[in-house]
Amino acid sequence: MSLIEVKGLKKNFGKLQVLKNVDFEVNQGDVVAVIGSSGSGKSTMLRCLIHLETVDGGTILVDGQPLVKDGKYPENSKIKKITSNMGMVFQQFNLFPHMTVKDNLIMPAQSVQKMTKDAALNRAKMLLQKVGMGEKLEEHPNNLSGGQQQRVAIARALMMNPQIMLFDEPTSALDPELTGEVLATMKQLASEHMTMVVVTHEMSFARDVATKVIFMDDGVILEEGSPEEIFSNPKNQRTRDFLKTVLR
Ligand SMILES: Nc1ncnc2c1ncn2[C@@H]1O[C@H](COP(=O)(O)OP(=O)(O)OP(=O)(O)O)[C@@H](O)[C@H]1O
Ligand SMILES: [Mg+2]
Repeated sequence: MSLIEVKGLKKNFGKLQVLKNVDFEVNQGDVVAVIGSSGSGKSTMLRCLIHLETVDGGTILVDGQPLVKDGKYPENSKIKKITSNMGMVFQQFNLFPHMTVKDNLIMPAQSVQKMTKDAALNRAKMLLQKVGMGEKLEEHPNNLSGGQQQRVAIARALMMNPQIMLFDEPTSALDPELTGEVLATMKQLASEHMTMVVVTHEMSFARDVATKVIFMDDGVILEEGSPEEIFSNPKNQRTRDFLKTVLR
């Protein structure tokens, strides 16, 4: 069974139809790269999956459970239960600047997930170690490089032990030399079979790490397939044109 199933997803902002009829599936362990030009609806689609935006129509099933069905949402507790199964990482890290790295991880875990302080601290240490930030527990985010901040943000998203990780251009705010360390962390997650949906401009990541590539254009999925299919043999002229501009 697919872990995420999206059918007929529609989203408008006022008169602007941003998602027109989006269908796709994500299987357990998939790394789905979502590519497409600016304004095509990639972020909006991702935000709908984790209920940062409400949809205007369509169905999203997560592990078989409806986050929304035919445009109708279930009660809040059900929505929370489903979205607590997902972690999200944003372009702009979104760490709390006044808190240490450690507190950025353990405070939300304690308040939202009701973890005990000891359990949260142990998990935070383990995850920061995993992303190569084990030495920076007591540091404040402003004293870290962008790449380090983003790795802390990834560790924070993993605190809730999510089944699915969503990434919205996690390396776009980073200098090229810092991009690699974040991509390496994501690659490691992928190798541990984390299910991931990654909006990205990093075509090397899409080509080398993704199991499936989705090309979005003007609110629809114009083409999807294996990296091999999309990069070596794109069927659609618009996919070809897009790849030509980004692979220069
Ligand atoms: N909160 C909002 N209110 C009104 N319009 C919005 C809002 N968020 C996004 N849009 C519009 O929806 C369209 C899709 O935006 P979205 O951010 O999903 O695109 P994107 O594919 O992620 O682009 P980018 O590659 O630049 O991040 C754009 O035209 C954008 O201006
Ligand atoms: Mg975006």
